[in-house]
Amino acid sequence: MDAPAIQRAAVVATGVIGASWTTVFLARGLDVTAADPAPGAEEALRRAVEAQWPAMDAMGGVAPGASPDRHLRFAASPEEAVADAQFVQENGPERLDLKRELFRRLDGAAPANAILATSSSTITVSEIQGACARHPERVVLGHPFNPPHLIPLVEVAGGRATTAEAVERALGFYRALGKHPIHLRREVRGHVANRLQAALWQEAFHLVATGVASVADVDAAISHGPGLRWALLGPFLNLHLSGGQGGIGELFGKPLWQATEAMWRDLGTVSVDAELGREVADGVAEELLARGDDRERVVRQRDQALLALLRLKAEAPR
Ligand SMILES: NC(=O)c1ccc[n+]([C@@H]2O[C@H](COP(=O)([O-])OP(=O)(O)OC[C@H]3O[C@@H](n4cnc5c(N)ncnc54)[C@H](O)[C@@H]3O)[C@@H](O)[C@H]2O)c1
Repeated sequence: MDAPAIQRAAVVATGVIGASWTTVFLARGLDVTAADPAPGAEEALRRAVEAQWPAMDAMGGVAPGASPDRHLRFAASPEEAVADAQFVQENGPERLDLKRELFRRLDGAAPANAILATSSSTITVSEIQGACARHPERVVLGHPFNPPHLIPLVEVAGGRATTAEAVERALGFYRALGKHPIHLRREVRGHVANRLQAALWQEAFHLVATGVASVADVDAAISHGPGLRWALLGPFLNLHLSGGQGGIGELFGKPLWQATEAMWRDLGTVSVDAELGREVADGVAEELLARGDDRERVVRQRDQALLALLRLKAEAPR
């Protein structure tokens, strides 16, 4: 029998990521119960949701009848927040001892068939789910890309004790929210997107450290170059489409490809010491200065362009 559509979600810990998830769930018309131990957390959450709502609306992400406050309830404890939940999104601090203790409590209090998802960036489900005495098989990774209310990607993985069914239900839930979940077939530290970013950052720092290009030019090399296509199709499909008529299958082994692999062996590893850190910070300050030295305006312009791009991507045939 199919699991019922999810209507009641719990958000446990409502900092940067938890607040943004709350906006997503409310905008898609779910009933949300949230909890966070910080003083003033409820007011902060309601302010964050209100501030994020217009962007959700502009993207067409607000379901008919959804409201930023009518379906949001703040609970006094994580146990109370999850007592009636069908899906739990945990967003507590990135500390293994804390996550394990939190999941022990969530597992004890949530209905037996509720999915428990962690937003964790670096801790794996296998490290967490051992703390769940009742139903470790329903614990999954649901790692968003910040901010979850704008960026569609969610990385989903099971741990050693997770069932395939729990992973499928999480993937289906995120899809129904309008997100774009990907499935990690096995756990790896940092998941996929952050590892890809880390690989790029490593070479970006290396190119600056070895005097190849300025900070601004390394940024331009991506934002005015391959980054434009990567936002549309990703590295593999772009490679396929730029590999001539035969595509990616005919590329490997050819001299051009051998040159690419030779470059892999030439990529640098670097540690950011005080000198390199200063050089990059100064370079970024110069870049901002060239844009009027107004950080808030740059963030606003970036997010407006991002919304326009997301709208275009949503309208394009898949
Ligand atoms: N910030 C990002 O870019 C990002 C992106 C993806 C995933 N994540 C992951 O999301 C999670 C939260 O990150 P964040 O950036 O929102 O952190 P944050 O510091 O903004 O929020 C953490 C929240 O947890 C609450 N908290 C503290 N102790 C708690 C406890 N014992 N029980 C319940 N709640 C508690 C705090 O009051 C705070 O509101 C982390 O696991 C992180 O790895 C972060």
